[in-house]
Amino acid sequence: MIIVKQLSYRVPSGSILRRIDLHVRKGETMAVMGMSGAGKSTLLKCIAGLLRPTGGQLLIDGIDIARMRESQLDNIRRRIGMVFQYAALFDSLTVFENVAFGLRRHTRMTESEITDVVMARLAMVGLAHTESKMPSEMSGGMQKRVGLARALAMNPEILLYDEPTAGLDPITAATIAELIIKARDELGVTSVLVSHDIQSIMSVSSRVAMIHKGRIIASGTTEEMQNCEDATVKQFMRGETQGPIHVTE
Ligand SMILES: Nc1ncnc2c1ncn2[C@@H]1O[C@H](COP(=O)(O)OP(=O)(O)OP(=O)(O)O)[C@@H](O)[C@H]1O
Ligand SMILES: [Mg+2]
Repeated sequence: MIIVKQLSYRVPSGSILRRIDLHVRKGETMAVMGMSGAGKSTLLKCIAGLLRPTGGQLLIDGIDIARMRESQLDNIRRRIGMVFQYAALFDSLTVFENVAFGLRRHTRMTESEITDVVMARLAMVGLAHTESKMPSEMSGGMQKRVGLARALAMNPEILLYDEPTAGLDPITAATIAELIIKARDELGVTSVLVSHDIQSIMSVSSRVAMIHKGRIIASGTTEEMQNCEDATVKQFMRGETQGPIHVTE
């Protein structure tokens, strides 16, 4: 469903992504883990069609979006949902309007159809009856779930999650992880999950890649990664201060 081939992203100050290769199968949840600043959000934004790669290919369902014209990109973007690192809700809009936003903008649905979809998605993420609240009245975990409901409202084929459990207590993080599994099982979405929360990664994904300084340094099944002999991967997964990764770099 998603094939990333030798993908690079350069800015004037240097390379952020260097020749990334990644394959994500239809219906699978693939995790990308790595240190802060490794390039995870940049990679996700390239896959979402929000940033244009400076090199390589990015095939979504066989179509290379890396060099696609802006007008064509819009159609692809509509098939991809993104749950942003910081919930990225519109503060001045109610929960209902936040979830309805894409539907109003990109579909011709009637008001009653929109209401049905919004209510169903809010119920799916465990937030029934919150539709008239403002984002500021909700906790961080609830806001993340609204962000997920908003992405799900568009019925995406692909869902990209940027740090969906960051900053949440372990139990709230686990409920988000369950929702990610639910989205895969009930809607059959193909997902890429970016995170440094090892526990959530292990519970939701079948395969994991580790990105370090803009490069994929290892990938495999969750089990293979847990037994990986690579010193950098080992250090990261165990959260050790001693090893090839120096945080001050
Ligand atoms: N437009 C840009 N111009 C220059 N540097 C950038 C730009 N966007 C990102 N960077 C740099 O690229 C690196 C990767 O950023 P990115 O946000 O992808 O990291 P990340 O892995 O998501 O980190 P975190 O875990 O903290 O969210 C960082 O060093 C960042 O400062
Ligand atoms: Mg990030």
